[in-house]
Amino acid sequence: MVLSITLGRLRLKNPVLVASGTFGYAKEMAALVDFAKLGGIVPKTVTAAPRAGNAPPRTVETPSGILNAIGLDNDGLEHFFTHHLPYLRTVPTAVIGNIAGKTEDEFVQMAKRVHEAGQGLAGLELNLSCPNVSGGLDYATDAEVTKRIVRCCRDACPDLPLIAKLTPNMTDIVVIAKAAADGGADAVSAVNTFVGMAIDWRRKKPILGNITGGLSGPAIKPLALRAVWRIAKLKAIPVIGIGGIGTIDDAMEFLVAGASAVQIGTANFYDPTASVRIVEALPEALASLGAKSVAEVVGTLK
Ligand SMILES: Cc1cc2nc3c(=O)[nH]c(=O)nc-3n(C[C@H](O)[C@H](O)[C@H](O)COP(=O)(O)O)c2cc1C
Repeated sequence: MVLSITLGRLRLKNPVLVASGTFGYAKEMAALVDFAKLGGIVPKTVTAAPRAGNAPPRTVETPSGILNAIGLDNDGLEHFFTHHLPYLRTVPTAVIGNIAGKTEDEFVQMAKRVHEAGQGLAGLELNLSCPNVSGGLDYATDAEVTKRIVRCCRDACPDLPLIAKLTPNMTDIVVIAKAAADGGADAVSAVNTFVGMAIDWRRKKPILGNITGGLSGPAIKPLALRAVWRIAKLKAIPVIGIGGIGTIDDAMEFLVAGASAVQIGTANFYDPTASVRIVEALPEALASLGAKSVAEVVGTLK
């Protein structure tokens, strides 16, 4: 069974990655997860300067998912290079860095720094889609801006496979996926969280300090599946499916819908071994469809 896949210039040993913001900088999960089994790890988004993130509460549980408004709490790119990357270079799987710029230019400057100091990263995911940051880091609602950022980051770090992470918080995600392809991205990842809110009606107050937050987990799986299916039909760029994936059945649905790979997010919080179990169950699930490789199943929806 061939589990390896290619996403543009990025080759992974299998199609199961863990999603940014749900797996720390990997070290935190080392006692729980056998990294060698994973197709890849995407550490938490880093920004150019350290960010304190949003006021608490930052997360709230909903009936079938969580709302979060972390606000990109992180220690900044240089801290990532000095404190996290040395460890990440030692993990026995692909590590895809994840960055977010405050401005278009900041994205490009960060990509340049990754080119200079990011040795050991297998690729770079551009978080064009965080819904929880004031000042609008939701770049992936504008096709021209998306294309420009991807193109400039592409030029700034020419050797590194680039993934554009898209927001579902817009009318037509397909237009943005096309723009990322035109900008030279190797793949798009879809989706980030859906903006929502939770209210304490007795106090007549929003529960999250940020008022709104991003919904993730099982609740969003059907929405994410549709987004991935629509982008994949374009046949313009490989898609990494994200949204509510926690079991082998979820992962197979995304592959059949057209995702070449998947990322596991919220499931890491309630079941840190979900990603490894999905990898282990993959050969049998593929064989049950008569396939000898992951690629044979991708986009086979009738
Ligand atoms: C607590 C939390 C923090 C997140 N932080 C980030 C982040 O820093 N960067 C990013 O690109 N996505 C972030 N995400 C989004 C996830 O990577 C993923 O796109 C989203 O949660 C949907 O997948 P899921 O339903 O499997 O969780 C975060 C999600 C959660 C729940």
